[in-house]
Amino acid sequence: MAGRRRLLPCVGLGLLAVLCWVWVSFASLSGDQLHLDVLDAPDRGAFQPQSALSDMEFASVASYRGPGNSDRRSKRELPILLWWSGGLFPHFPGDTERVDCATSSCLVTSNRKVQLYKRTASIIFYGTDFRAYEAPLPRLRHQTWALFHEESPMNNYILSHGPGIRLFNYTATFRRESDYPLTLQWLPSLEYLLEPVAVSLEEKNRLRREGLAPVLYMQSHCDVPSDRDRYVHELMKYIEVDSYGKCLNNRPLPEHLEDTATATGEEPGFMNFVARYKFHLALENGVCPDYMTEKLWRPLHQGCVPVYRGSPVVADWMPNDHSVVIIDSFPSPKALADFLKRLDENDDEYVRYLEFKDPRRITNTRLLEGLDSREWGVNDMSKPNYLNGFECYVCEQENARLAAERAYRKAPQKTQPPQGKMASNSHMGCPLPSPGYGDIKDLPADDGWLQIWPQDYWQSLDQAEGLESLIRHNESDPSLLWKHIQNIAVSRARGKH
Ligand SMILES: *[C@@H]1O[C@H](CO)[C@@H](O)[C@H](O)[C@H]1NC(C)=O
Ligand SMILES: *[C@@H]1O[C@H](CO)[C@@H](O)[C@H](O)[C@H]1NC(C)=O
Repeated sequence: MAGRRRLLPCVGLGLLAVLCWVWVSFASLSGDQLHLDVLDAPDRGAFQPQSALSDMEFASVASYRGPGNSDRRSKRELPILLWWSGGLFPHFPGDTERVDCATSSCLVTSNRKVQLYKRTASIIFYGTDFRAYEAPLPRLRHQTWALFHEESPMNNYILSHGPGIRLFNYTATFRRESDYPLTLQWLPSLEYLLEPVAVSLEEKNRLRREGLAPVLYMQSHCDVPSDRDRYVHELMKYIEVDSYGKCLNNRPLPEHLEDTATATGEEPGFMNFVARYKFHLALENGVCPDYMTEKLWRPLHQGCVPVYRGSPVVADWMPNDHSVVIIDSFPSPKALADFLKRLDENDDEYVRYLEFKDPRRITNTRLLEGLDSREWGVNDMSKPNYLNGFECYVCEQENARLAAERAYRKAPQKTQPPQGKMASNSHMGCPLPSPGYGDIKDLPADDGWLQIWPQDYWQSLDQAEGLESLIRHNESDPSLLWKHIQNIAVSRARGKH
């Protein structure tokens, strides 16, 4: 099962690229070292005295305190939030820092020593790194778990199953239903969408006459759960597609662009190259509601028409009702190809898809409000990033919960006990991967996709249930996961549940 660990894809807009670099550079080192610390502690199960924190290194970076924050407690009194995925810890230098959020403060740390401390109120996990067999156990009743997962569902299907996601109390995911939604994380701003069309239709038509295909495909990550190549392969039978990436490659990339073949960045040479195409095939690597990436927003930015598959509810976020061609609204690849050919030959029909470049034609209020109301920025140093934003969300929730618990302890007759909070399947809940084209029953047994993704999905459910069982049995050793999975399977086979 160790094969489930995947490389964190180190691509993305500025912030994540930096964090990713940090993760790759430090994760293994600090992770192992801290892990040993915890295992070596003689008395792992017991709560440790608060003063044990005194040997932690406190960074002395002054932090901004919101005008509504009158939290006067010292660092030694604040609730602690532990970043279990230390590589993503959004503070430098040091591994511990005080954060002063809008109305209250917390101490945040990536030092796993504090795992079992009474003062540790919440543990924050990065979805891509979350492993059931490495979970912090025993799970203490007074501690909440918080999940940050902005990346593809394919990185960790444990989170797509009810028993997995319900382990968390707070979530920040790409889904609008999560507590701190990151749905528009790949869209930097409204201005990004309104950027004038990079290559005029006259020029695109001229390039077409010179032999450029109407459709671009550029993908180098081929074995993915959405099985996009199977669809594109079929589509290519009916319409010309220039494919420059490693997947279904039929054209060499010009030499000066070779290094950026897999780049999602905005390198100008690369951008100009792809902007010449009328249509961009934009198929996400995983299918899930609200999972939308730069594959979708970049063609809109450039004034090319995305031909999209990914979030089944993508239309909810589009500038208007005619700015994207949605693959799944066509009965077959041939029907889609026929439609694209018609648009290719009809300038009036084609430019209708670019009308949103005029701000008056952006009619989707959900999109406008979503951009307007988010507190974090994308590549915008004047706004907080969403890691710090989510951290503060958890901090405020925990301070409110602790205050409510104190009030209840003081006057149980006069106050309500605080309500618990738990994530549900709608906070992630991605469906079982299905073939990009055709019926799963028709795939040969040795099909590569078939051998990987449906299995991965169901094994992830086993792991989620195994972890849930570890927690229910108050186990301290997460490596007992496999034993618990086996027990569940055995009792299932016997007809018990
Ligand atoms: C769970 O286990 C820990 C130590 O492993 C122990 O301190 C704690 O009391 C246990 N909790 C319950 C509810 O049994
Ligand atoms: C957090 O979630 C767990 C597991 O789902 C649940 O048992 C617990 O009551 C929740 N805690 C709070 C404070 O909501």
